Amino acid sequence: MSWHRKHLLDIESLSAEEILTVLDTARGFKAVGERAIKKVPALRGKTVVNLFVEPSTRTRISFELAEQRLSADVINFSTEASSFKKGETLKDTAKNLEALNADFIIIRHSASGAPHFLSRVVNSSIINAGDGAHEHPTQALLDAFTIRERKGKIAGLNVTILGDILYSRVARSNIWALTKLGAKVTLCGPSTLVPKTFEQMGCRVTHDVDEALREADIIHLLRIQHERQRKTMFPSIGEYTSLFGLNKARLAKTKPDALIMHPGPINRGVEIDSEIADCERSVILQQVTNGLAVRMAVLYLVNGGKVAPEAAV
Ligand code: CP
Repeated sequence: MSWHRKHLLDIESLSAEEILTVLDTARGFKAVGERAIKKVPALRGKTVVNLFVEPSTRTRISFELAEQRLSADVINFSTEASSFKKGETLKDTAKNLEALNADFIIIRHSASGAPHFLSRVVNSSIINAGDGAHEHPTQALLDAFTIRERKGKIAGLNVTILGDILYSRVARSNIWALTKLGAKVTLCGPSTLVPKTFEQMGCRVTHDVDEALREADIIHLLRIQHERQRKTMFPSIGEYTSLFGLNKARLAKTKPDALIMHPGPINRGVEIDSEIADCERSVILQQVTNGLAVRMAVLYLVNGGKVAPEAAV
């Protein structure tokens, strides 16, 4: 096992061994989730604060459930009902959580670097639940877990990430994770949203969607991140859908066993045909299920991970 970190801030700084440690540990927690009694005492007596300063459905709920399954005391911080509304800073907010003995702070924030900043100003363990367009490490870990579970390996697979790459923290974390694990990553989308500069991260960039999809073992779709775009990046949603959306005609030209992934939330009829989102090749909801085991593994490892998950009952 290779894990000696107090925080999970990004995928960029992790080694392939550390990523594999999370995936292997998550496998144990997935088995725990299939038992009649799904709760283990790994975080008994520990306090976890979910500090979500940006909307979330999947990440917030699966972190909360993971914390409960690990027997932690869980506090959900609501931005609307907090003193953020009275002008309190992120640093002062975190300092107050630390003063209340928060052992872990799970943070989602619209500012890139917010989790790294907190890791420097408080003693709590910090887990990045998505920071601006920078990284979303637990999403990439659950995506890698799902790929390995379904394909039996990651090294050597062709993974195409299609959509708004420029503003996507999911894309960046996936590129780091998948290239470290030996996958061949291709990025595709409009040239304004998929600049060639991404090749510096060790992947291939193309703007030809049929070519990007033809040899893909994994088709990873991303929605348009309207909330982060500061100017119009393409003429219209209709044009984006017609040029880059995954429809039946495009799917027919892909490998028959290529898996379809999406981190959610999906925009049916925009980046993905509604029927394709629900088809047998779609693993979108399996990604969500696996997110629980992966987040249990991350919490367990940053807490020191002394006991194997199957023995932590
Ligand atoms: N995939 C993801 O981060 O979804 P949420 O924004 O709903 O958490």
